[in-house]
Amino acid sequence: MKTSIALGTSLLLGGLWLSFHNSRQHHQWTPTSPSISEPKCPQVSATFPSRETEALNAMDEFLKSSKFFNQSVERLSAAVQIPTESFDDMGLVGEDPRWKIFFDFEAYLKATFPLVHSTLKVDKVNTHGLLYSWAGSDPSLKPTLLMAHQDVVPVPEATVKQWTHPPFSGFYDGKYVWGRGSSDCKNQLIAILEAVEELIAAKFEPKRGLILSFGFDEEISGPQGAAHLASYILEKHGKNSIAAIVDEGAGTFNVWGAKFAMPGVGEKGYTDIQIVVRMPGGHSSIPPAHNGIGVAAELVTLIEGHPYEPRLDDANPYLGLMHCGAEHAPEFPHKLKKLLNNRSSSHKQCGKDELALEAAKAGSDVKYLMTTSVAVDIIQGGVKVNALPERTVITVNHRVNVGSRTSDVEKKITKLASHVAHKYNLTLNAFEGEESPSSITLTSTKNKLEPAPVTPTEVGNGSPYEILSGTTRALYGEDMLVAPGIMTGNTDTKHYWPLTEHIFRYGPGFDPEQEGFGKIHTVDEAQSVKAHIATVRWFSLFIRNMDEANL
Ligand SMILES: *[C@@H]1O[C@H](CO)[C@@H](O)[C@H](O)[C@H]1NC(C)=O
Ligand SMILES: *[C@@H]1O[C@H](CO)[C@@H](O)[C@H](O)[C@H]1NC(C)=O
Ligand SMILES: *[C@@H]1O[C@H](CO)[C@@H](O)[C@H](O)[C@H]1NC(C)=O
Repeated sequence: MKTSIALGTSLLLGGLWLSFHNSRQHHQWTPTSPSISEPKCPQVSATFPSRETEALNAMDEFLKSSKFFNQSVERLSAAVQIPTESFDDMGLVGEDPRWKIFFDFEAYLKATFPLVHSTLKVDKVNTHGLLYSWAGSDPSLKPTLLMAHQDVVPVPEATVKQWTHPPFSGFYDGKYVWGRGSSDCKNQLIAILEAVEELIAAKFEPKRGLILSFGFDEEISGPQGAAHLASYILEKHGKNSIAAIVDEGAGTFNVWGAKFAMPGVGEKGYTDIQIVVRMPGGHSSIPPAHNGIGVAAELVTLIEGHPYEPRLDDANPYLGLMHCGAEHAPEFPHKLKKLLNNRSSSHKQCGKDELALEAAKAGSDVKYLMTTSVAVDIIQGGVKVNALPERTVITVNHRVNVGSRTSDVEKKITKLASHVAHKYNLTLNAFEGEESPSSITLTSTKNKLEPAPVTPTEVGNGSPYEILSGTTRALYGEDMLVAPGIMTGNTDTKHYWPLTEHIFRYGPGFDPEQEGFGKIHTVDEAQSVKAHIATVRWFSLFIRNMDEANL
């Protein structure tokens, strides 16, 4: 998951992950009778593949064996030991020598997964993008696409000593494999390849094609990896040519006294807005009452004084999650339930969104799943103590709420800036026109992104969401509930939108004993091997269930 300042995320679901985790408690789920006539969060029964062979049954057993466990430890550990760091200032592939390490990673995969490499077609896209295709016997079926990224967040030299085990050691302590990339997301990449390797060994022959697409610069937002891979696939297969995509993402959380797998079916949008205040310079011994820095500060104060209100669009996955909570979780708050049931009549586009306001009280990590965030992150102005600043620059980061657009953010900030411009007699160039003397100029940076199209989660029509849900409940049992998740950050899937509406950002591996969420992007990243094995088993089942699905 990416986290750079340029287009950064904290982690998926933001701190929700942590707060849910902290409220973890052991609870035996018992079905409660839904009080509403039509269930809004029906749960799919466990789905097992019906096409069985002796070899496939033996494979299922092998994946649970200690031999396979040990083999997985080796594979994941060795993958972590190859430091495939992607730095913010990375140059082009072929020019910047720091990309060369990805050849080592590719060679490692080739040596470790011989059946995958002899059975699937491998295309190298922009040198390090790895695209594996396994043709199905029925070419009329849309292929399943599984994603992961090869790169990892760099480990700053200054933090190396803080690691309990060195960041690229792949140290195994009997439960966890330690190191950068162990959980973000070499575990998922290795798990996918392990699942496919074992399926080939068990003579599985897919009817539906399977594509694996592994980018190499996700942590710096994917311009050379995912962007190229996605257009390559688009060119080869066309728009809407993929049945479903699963990429790294959200996992399983205990919330409201129940256990929920929460595949990310939506992502917030993103935009950085740059504000430039130009005012006359001069000697600071004879200053005007307000100079560029003062005026910029006034605008910052206004921006902070007018935050966005929580608002739950009908498409926001958090609304779906609340319906699941109301119907299945014993500790779902009574007040939320009342507001939820009354929502159709009380929710109005222009008024306050009472449900969102109430839900947001759970904390800022929950609030920002339904609120556009705004944060003034960078300010520059002035160069000398005796000279008035002529040019002051502010950058304001926004994560755009589902149901809103980057243009809404532009409108709002234009209104605030026009107030200040008017007060100080400055020209306002709002998203058009050039900087001029005595002006405020607003521009959006190139990396703006609208909120992702929300993946359909209706149940009852045999959708990919159902197959994903049924696979999850087949693996973990039916006290595991599945509910829609929303992410505050973005994954490589942002380049893949034209290929399918069925995109899931999901880490299916769950280890109930895992203490604390395996840290990502910081010191002591580690991956529970139990959760890793569960990931392999999940992918193995999911591939087979998708193969049989009538989509
Ligand atoms: C797996 O490794 C453990 C020690 O880490 C060992 O006790 C066990 O025998 C191994 N299992 C197999 C099948 O090799
Ligand atoms: C339900 O919505 C109606 C219409 O907005 C409102 O008058 C009523 O007070 C609401 N009931 C509850 C329990 O919130
Ligand atoms: C505002 O600025 C314009 C030129 O930019 C100037 O002609 C005008 O006199 C100014 N008005 C005030 C009230 O300062």
